[in-house]
Amino acid sequence: MSKVKDPKLASEGKQKIEWAESHMPALMKIREQFAKEKPLKGLTVAACLHVTKETAVLMRTLKDGGAVVGLCGSNPLSTQDDIAAALAEDGINVFAWRGVSNDEYYWCLNQVLDLKPNITMDDGGDLVATIHSKRQDLLKNIIGGTEETTTGVIRFRSMEKDKALKYPVISVNDAYTKHLFDNRYGTGQSTIDGIVRASSVLLAGKNFVVGGYGWCGRGIAARAKGMGCKVIVTEVDPVRALEAYMDGFQVMSMGEASKIGDIFVTASGDKDLIRKEHMEKMKSGAILANSGHFNVEINVKELESLSSGKRTVRPNVEEYKLKSGKKLYLLGEGRLVNLATPKGMGHPIEVMDMSFALQALCARYIAEEGRGMKPGVYDVPARIDERVADLKLRSLGLTIDSLTDSQIQYLKSWDIGT
Ligand SMILES: NC(=O)c1ccc[n+]([C@@H]2O[C@H](COP(=O)([O-])OP(=O)(O)OC[C@H]3O[C@@H](n4cnc5c(N)ncnc54)[C@H](O)[C@@H]3O)[C@@H](O)[C@H]2O)c1
Repeated sequence: MSKVKDPKLASEGKQKIEWAESHMPALMKIREQFAKEKPLKGLTVAACLHVTKETAVLMRTLKDGGAVVGLCGSNPLSTQDDIAAALAEDGINVFAWRGVSNDEYYWCLNQVLDLKPNITMDDGGDLVATIHSKRQDLLKNIIGGTEETTTGVIRFRSMEKDKALKYPVISVNDAYTKHLFDNRYGTGQSTIDGIVRASSVLLAGKNFVVGGYGWCGRGIAARAKGMGCKVIVTEVDPVRALEAYMDGFQVMSMGEASKIGDIFVTASGDKDLIRKEHMEKMKSGAILANSGHFNVEINVKELESLSSGKRTVRPNVEEYKLKSGKKLYLLGEGRLVNLATPKGMGHPIEVMDMSFALQALCARYIAEEGRGMKPGVYDVPARIDERVADLKLRSLGLTIDSLTDSQIQYLKSWDIGT
């Protein structure tokens, strides 16, 4: 069962999925093994992920591993309709189309939950949150879940603290082979790509303000610098702020940055980084974008209250005319700019190879070990993280050294000093 925008888009989608498959060697290796061993046989996996070609490669892998698979989008603007159509044709239960309303978003999510999943796979935590708040009847079937992004992990850790989390969830985001590459290099490259595709502006010479210097912020700042921007970082964490300074960026408060910024990008997982008081100070023509998971980082309601009108000047670029006469431009409604803007491709394929190799192996881990795990948030087992790094290195044709016996001995000892 599926509901997608247009089933006729399937052949276009299939071609894109094939392209992704040829750039995801680690996940394809895991698929080979899954097809032989069927580790997910008899299980149903519900996934709430951005519906992209890379997600499609993961869904096909889970299916080859023996699972019944349901998929809905994890953001109203991130579904690629041709991919959804191709997956529906492949026998995945897809409920997703680009531009769903809030009600449609939750309708799709509930259709996937109606499959009575044994494993949940979240990006942002909406499956887990809905199951715990409105579909508790499903808890009895669930062995465990996985979470892809920082924002979802923050939500689950809060649930764990309040003793509200009723099943084990593995934080894929916290694996080294996830956040070091996906959040940093993936978000870095794709955020710049999303801004350029949406606005078509020149980056060189611009004052480019990055809100939050975490894994995503570091990547965005580094790539913006590479494009010739003068990068400014805002932070609330003194250590991260110092790191940004020593990485060569200007550090200041959003209050100061708002007076000089040409382009603003938030990536913090927090709300209201850009508020009314900042928008009032901004230069006319400033561009505002967000790469954090939810559309809460730029306070769009306050932007609307300051404005006398708005119009769409390019696909997914809204021009807000402020009562003061100046104009501010909001990309992709303040939703993740790398996925929400038209033709926003999301992360480069090669980083998703690692993130989704982790997801596949973690789904297998839950199938095999989950019944013995208590409710809570779990790190990805180190051996899975190392396996993914190893698969990726091999696929790149890179070899590394191994410790000699005497090195192992030396590293274990404490008595050899000066
Ligand atoms: N766009 C994407 O494709 C994509 C990919 C991965 C993660 N994400 C999302 O991006 C967000 C950031 O993820 P991350 O892995 O970089 O998180 P992180 O925890 O590594 O970094 C967040 C940083 O933001 C800072 N911060 C928090 N509140 C702030 C405020 N009010 N002002 C300035 N700085 C503030 C924190 O101190 C921290 O340094 C999350 O919502 C995550 O889910 C998006």
